[in-house]
Amino acid sequence: MKDYSLYDDRSQMLHYIDRYPKSFTRTPAEPLIERPLTLTERTGPVGLFGCGPLNLAAPKGVRATGQLITVKGRVMDEDGSPIRGAVIELWQANSAGKYIHAMDNHQAPIDPNFTGEGRLVTNEEGEYEFFSIKPGAYPVLESGWWWRPPHIHFSIFGVSWMDRYVTQIFFPGEPLNETDLLLNGVPDKETRNRLIFDFTDTTMGEINSIGYKRDFVLRGHRRTPEVD
Ligand SMILES: [Fe+2]
Repeated sequence: MKDYSLYDDRSQMLHYIDRYPKSFTRTPAEPLIERPLTLTERTGPVGLFGCGPLNLAAPKGVRATGQLITVKGRVMDEDGSPIRGAVIELWQANSAGKYIHAMDNHQAPIDPNFTGEGRLVTNEEGEYEFFSIKPGAYPVLESGWWWRPPHIHFSIFGVSWMDRYVTQIFFPGEPLNETDLLLNGVPDKETRNRLIFDFTDTTMGEINSIGYKRDFVLRGHRRTPEVD
């Protein structure tokens, strides 16, 4: 198996986050058990190329309510080489900050034209692209004070099924980014910025949208922090 340079722990999310009780239950209390790596653990999705850009903004043909955005980027190994055929699963709130989920108790409307979830596959260059609407902020009701800033959840399967990588990407210039317990659960500011989209082009014409870009490095010292 290939060697790679390990990341600095300060570049990743803290295991225990003050004022966020869930962080105390999601970290193993016991040492991890090493399991043998068989063919099942070393292999993953193959032959899934050929998907075009995913359209979350109009999954049923009618455009969802909200600001249309175009999101693109690359999925890479620690040396910058592309992860081809990586399966990316996405989920996000609608423009009012509402998920279609039984546990979402926020008093905000569901958009009948927006499911907020989708799946795509990276191309030969490790690139992905999708259209969506900018998600709204939403309150963490049990906290009594905390509002999550707009963000999109990403789950990425790399070269093996055991490589599932999960994170959240945030939008630049959002005031709520300053107080978000998860984003600020990454101690190092420079690496925290790897969790924020870069603003890119606006487009006008057939599609009017604001462009955002975010690359993912799945391991090594430049690894994009995981946020779950
Ligand atoms: Fe969320």
